[in-house]
Amino acid sequence: MVIFNSVKEIQEAVAAYKTSSKTIGFVPTMGALHEGHLSLIKRCKSENDICIVSIFVNPTQFNNKQDLATYPRDLGKDAKLLESVDCDIIFAPTEQEIYNDNELAGTFSFSFNGLDEVMEGKFRPGHFNGVVQIVSKLFSIVTPSKAYFGEKDFQQVAIIKHMVKELKYPVEIIPCPILREGSGLALSSRNTLLTSEEKKKAITISKVLNECRNFVARMSPEELTQWVVNEINKVDILQVEYFEIVDGNSLQKITNWSDSEYVVGCITVYCGKIRLIDNIRLKG
Ligand code: PAF
Repeated sequence: MVIFNSVKEIQEAVAAYKTSSKTIGFVPTMGALHEGHLSLIKRCKSENDICIVSIFVNPTQFNNKQDLATYPRDLGKDAKLLESVDCDIIFAPTEQEIYNDNELAGTFSFSFNGLDEVMEGKFRPGHFNGVVQIVSKLFSIVTPSKAYFGEKDFQQVAIIKHMVKELKYPVEIIPCPILREGSGLALSSRNTLLTSEEKKKAITISKVLNECRNFVARMSPEELTQWVVNEINKVDILQVEYFEIVDGNSLQKITNWSDSEYVVGCITVYCGKIRLIDNIRLKG
């Protein structure tokens, strides 16, 4: 496994692999890797000749400075984990290597077709602009034929798929299922920021999401939304920011179950000060 910090180095390596007809798979990350990431990397390894993982805490997708400052970073630990799953290349650029001053000042814009106006987009203004900005840059540098994203960030996956179509990138987006702890808690880099007490209470999120599937036949989407929010907010340190039942492609809210063949419930909950996201497929 090699670690490249510069765009030039990785581009030269990719060019050499392509000359010998090797396929490139790519897993973009912000580090703080956990089993969820490793599952993407294992899949990437099994479906491509070369697996490249980027580690870059992208400043332009953080609308909260505190969140950016406290985002867990440990390249040494991440590198060990990546070595253990046979990753071929880590691309860990500096901020200067990726962005010039204008780009950092937030001049990027992209047509999202409304996908960024709901859920995460509503509560984290500019977040998806930053995500598209960095992922489009990384795709142009790494030029993978397949790229792997976790479905925990459900809206992100929908937006990346839209971006690839809009910008005509020749890359196949592979969404990968959420990995969970035995307790049901969705794996997330942010879980390391939870105290053990918070972690115990956070289990309620996945428990309620799972349970709510039993009520799909009996409740309207609106009633089910209310039920989920009430059940989770009963736990003292949990506060639902939003729970929305949406069409899995357009991300628009549905009012009747018959409105869509593919329905997903997406949630964000504050557990103390830590913002956790999760989702569950409700139909299709
Ligand atoms: O999901 C993430 O970790 C990030 O949003 C991504 C895709 C690596 C872009 O910075």
